[in-house]
Amino acid sequence: MKQRENFGSKLGIIMATAGSALGLGNIYRFPVEAGNNGGGAFLIVYIAVALLIGTPLMISEFIIGRRSRSNPIGAFRTIAGRRTPFTLVGWGGVLSAFLILAFYTTVAGWTLGYLGKSLLNHFDGQDLPQIQAQFTAFVDHPWLPIACQLAFLAMTAFVVLRGVAKGIERWSKILMPLLLVIMLVLCIKSLTLPGASEGMRFLFHPDFSKITGKVLISALGQSFFSLSIGMGALITYGSYIAKNDNMVSSAVSVVFADTLVAVLAGIVIFPAAFSFGIKPEAGASLAFTTLPMVFQQMHGGYLFCLLFFLLLVIATLTSTISLLEVIVAALTEEFHLTRGKAAWLGAAVTAVIGILATISMRSSNPLSIGGTSVFDILDHATALYLMPLGGLFIVLFVGWYMKKTDTMAELTNEGTLRSGIRKAILLVIRYLCPLAIAVIFISQLIK
Ligand code: PHE
Repeated sequence: MKQRENFGSKLGIIMATAGSALGLGNIYRFPVEAGNNGGGAFLIVYIAVALLIGTPLMISEFIIGRRSRSNPIGAFRTIAGRRTPFTLVGWGGVLSAFLILAFYTTVAGWTLGYLGKSLLNHFDGQDLPQIQAQFTAFVDHPWLPIACQLAFLAMTAFVVLRGVAKGIERWSKILMPLLLVIMLVLCIKSLTLPGASEGMRFLFHPDFSKITGKVLISALGQSFFSLSIGMGALITYGSYIAKNDNMVSSAVSVVFADTLVAVLAGIVIFPAAFSFGIKPEAGASLAFTTLPMVFQQMHGGYLFCLLFFLLLVIATLTSTISLLEVIVAALTEEFHLTRGKAAWLGAAVTAVIGILATISMRSSNPLSIGGTSVFDILDHATALYLMPLGGLFIVLFVGWYMKKTDTMAELTNEGTLRSGIRKAILLVIRYLCPLAIAVIFISQLIK
């Protein structure tokens, strides 16, 4: 049997998985979704979904990954012993990785551009209209956002080239905790702005009448996106987990950290947005205008701004790494490419679609189909369709297709861990998860 790399330590697994989970999904996408879906109502539904569906699904992906020690395509084949329709789920995951990486690197490029802007002190002394105009000028620039996007992809390929333990694990371990600290500092600043309480009310006082089918499906999509589940990234990472790791506690830690950072991002952005008179449903520009404004109001704002965008770039990088890793694991194991070739090929194909997504974010919106930008099409196709479908089949596979003794053996590390709570988790995987995902998903199709 070929020797596969493993994560070096328990902390390494949590940090690498958290590295995948924490990213633009938390700091950029969560506030946009919460802003569009009623704030507090969205938050409540989001937390319920992350806990009841997200966590068991994450554990399911770890089970498939560690059991098969394979990329998502090979994983289903290895466990099922032959080609079953489940192999398609693996292919769907690799496709999702391409599509997500394509539009994700659009915003990733912006973070790089904004790191440059903060370095050059572009926000100094600017008022809100000026900062908003800067954002529009940046996304409308003919080549700058594309150059930033390509640079980001190249950085990602460069780390992935170096492999699992040395590249991915080492970086995540140092940088994730630092991100948490700076988010906390930002929260405190945002909360002391005049009028901040209105933003807190928006985020924490749920108006239950706002919980609609659309909120449910948005929360489901957001939790899948934010936790990196439903597309095989965590099957891939699960395949690097050591046999004696406690997968359940690792998953719980990651879900906790991911939700915490999303809520913190909300606590930074909404009070500040209300304080500056920015609409919570401002969409794409929400984070990129609110945050520079917060820094403006702070002592040492220049330094904090720089540090924040640096950490955001890094948090984003650990997510793009996990996306490209899905593609690379599939290309090296299924098509026998070298790691180097696979990384550059994956990045190149992504770049082609990604550039279209970036162009479609220009304010003149030259690339849209039926009024929806390429960016939004890619986002919706993955978060609202491919990931929930992938997640549905993953829980069905673990809950119903795999032998119960095998699943329990993975959950309990061959019987060395207590089985009571793990039996309950398996029940949730078998019944609650598929039912809930199917109901939410079908209700969306009907609508
Ligand atoms: N979870 C990442 C984020 O929140 C995005 C991502 C999705 C990464 C799917 C990997 C796989 O930013």
